[in-house]
Amino acid sequence: MISTGLTDFAVGFILLGILRPGYGLDNGLALTPPMGWMTWERFRCETNCKDYPDECISEKLIRDTADMMVSEGYADAGYEYVIVDDCWLSHKRDSDGRLQADPDRFPNGIKALADYVHAKGLKFGIYEDIGTYTCMGYPGVDGHHEIDAQTFADWGVDYVKMDACYTSHINVSEAFPDFGRALNKTGRPIVFSCSWPTALEKPINFEPIKQHCNLWRNNGDISDDWGMVKAIIRHFAGEQDNYAPLAGPGHWNDPDMLVIGNYQLSLEQSKVQMAIWAILAAPLLMSTDLRNVYPEYKAVLQNERVIAVSQDVLGIQGRRIIEDTKNHLHVWTRPVTPVVGEEYSYAIAFWSYRNDGNPHTFKISLKDAGLTNPTGYSVEDLFGDDKFEVTDPSVELKVRITPYGVVLYKATPVSSKANFTQVK
Ligand code: GLA
Repeated sequence: MISTGLTDFAVGFILLGILRPGYGLDNGLALTPPMGWMTWERFRCETNCKDYPDECISEKLIRDTADMMVSEGYADAGYEYVIVDDCWLSHKRDSDGRLQADPDRFPNGIKALADYVHAKGLKFGIYEDIGTYTCMGYPGVDGHHEIDAQTFADWGVDYVKMDACYTSHINVSEAFPDFGRALNKTGRPIVFSCSWPTALEKPINFEPIKQHCNLWRNNGDISDDWGMVKAIIRHFAGEQDNYAPLAGPGHWNDPDMLVIGNYQLSLEQSKVQMAIWAILAAPLLMSTDLRNVYPEYKAVLQNERVIAVSQDVLGIQGRRIIEDTKNHLHVWTRPVTPVVGEEYSYAIAFWSYRNDGNPHTFKISLKDAGLTNPTGYSVEDLFGDDKFEVTDPSVELKVRITPYGVVLYKATPVSSKANFTQVK
């Protein structure tokens, strides 16, 4: 488990000092992109527990997942939030006007479920919708902000994903900040994830969204499909001048869930999603059946060196630096720690979208990718074992990439040539 070194009491004390009802969100949370697991992409709105007891949206699925998060090493790798997406609700509020879970699929209620997740050392997240209904037609929070935020706090919810379906009759730009204030008012630290941009006309002014939300969905829904993953990567490249400046500790762009470990992505494509999501400082929210992940895919999800890039404390979102349409190559870089003198370290992703069978060697210098430290870099392959040193950033490297694959390097500046041990 990643630890801050602070006791729960100390963290709570600090947060109480930071929570300021009435202002922007500023809740002191999500200082690095949130990591966890979410039901939606893999389990959708399966409500038939009779025929599909392991797959329906139910307390069993959430408990099984919390168990697997710990026993299979995901929690130790940094994954923290277990989030139930749409379809957990009963269609009716209770007699006091409070939301309630579907009684058949969540017979012990949400509080007991959150307690179970907390007892595992994890955090619990839930889905709602700022409009009249959730996207799948369950009750939304419209007209009930205070009572619903308080209900979530009473249940021990740590993360709220707020969707934006059925909102044509409301002003979402007032409703999202209002719900954020209602969350703050409860005094419980709750990460606020907003699908606010999905309900706005373009061009979108992201400043208020950044002010009121810890993360926000920038694009349509991901699915277990390589074409969709590619489209989202290209979308983030095309919009990087708008998106990248928004990201930082406490506020993140969200390109949607990781679909690694499901039916469609190859191992190489899984590495691409993991690498680019890390470069983008994106939330790492898995949506897969943790009871059935092949070991190679689990290793991608738990690659600690890639996760370290994702969770880098500087919180700078990376950018696509090169699009080489002739060779079908993207180069993405993200400045990360350690900063040596004035020079950042960098994560560098070389993503090949060639599909002509064999691996291909690309010739490129670190300088071409914007890395210019005159005394060079120590370079490490984050998906492999290769380590080498580059004394002169303008020296051409040979980077060999599998079809539709990625090579992810971390380059750390070397402060003086005397520190080199080996030259490639
Ligand atoms: C929208 C969201 C998805 C998911 C579904 C649930 O489509 O974008 O991530 O939450 O609603 O209905």
